Amino acid sequence: MKTLQILAVLLLAGIAGCSSGEKDAASTADVRQGVDKNVDTCRAATKKLGGSLKTALQGAMKESGPLGAVNVCFDESEVITDEICDEEGLTIGRTSRRYRNRSNAPDEWEKAGLEAFDARIKAGEKPANLEMWATVTSPGGARTFRYLKAIPTAPMCLSCHGSELAGDLDEKLAKLYPDDKARGFVAGDMRGAFSVKLDLPGTAYNGG
Ligand code: HEC
Repeated sequence: MKTLQILAVLLLAGIAGCSSGEKDAASTADVRQGVDKNVDTCRAATKKLGGSLKTALQGAMKESGPLGAVNVCFDESEVITDEICDEEGLTIGRTSRRYRNRSNAPDEWEKAGLEAFDARIKAGEKPANLEMWATVTSPGGARTFRYLKAIPTAPMCLSCHGSELAGDLDEKLAKLYPDDKARGFVAGDMRGAFSVKLDLPGTAYNGG
């Protein structure tokens, strides 16, 4: 039953992804298998990045509190992200409609995805369960497999993303990010999403 539910969510996620991608009539077993493999690759990369960031953040918070840990998010997250990109041969990052760093602002596909996630949360789904994917073809014909997975806000995130920030931390963040939109979250909110891109040869196909 659980498996079925998960499958249903994945199918819905896949369908939601179709709106912004090109849909092809071809749905052969081979193409499906390719999509499954791409989804697995993206899930694995997301898990790896999420795990590494969490470990680095928890360690730094323990050692030097939120003020010192800001550097993990500021510098180290980029290093960790680049490492995973090199190892896995893909592009991965974090995005949010309410971003802290302007360079994490969503592109059109991500924006549509985050909006779809917001609608699904309103309809009762949990951020932890939300993911979607699509094969997107650029006007030049290049195909990219795109994957988005929501990131929930945990209680430990609130010292830097909640509404009450310690005075010195508040100051440091305001200096680093004058355009900061990533405050005022509560535990359980969707904080943003991991976003993965895989360059593809082959046929475009969206689905689960
Ligand atoms: C020590 C302070 C701190 C804590 C704790 C923290 N963050 Fe952040 N977060 C930041 C900073 C600083 C950035 C901007 C990073 C950058 O410059 O790319 C950021 C960026 C992000 C982004 C990228 C999108 C954006 O807003 O630019 C996401 C997603 C995110 N954080 C989620 C989380 C989650 C989820 C948690 C809890 C598990 C968390 N953060 C805990 C400081 C923190």
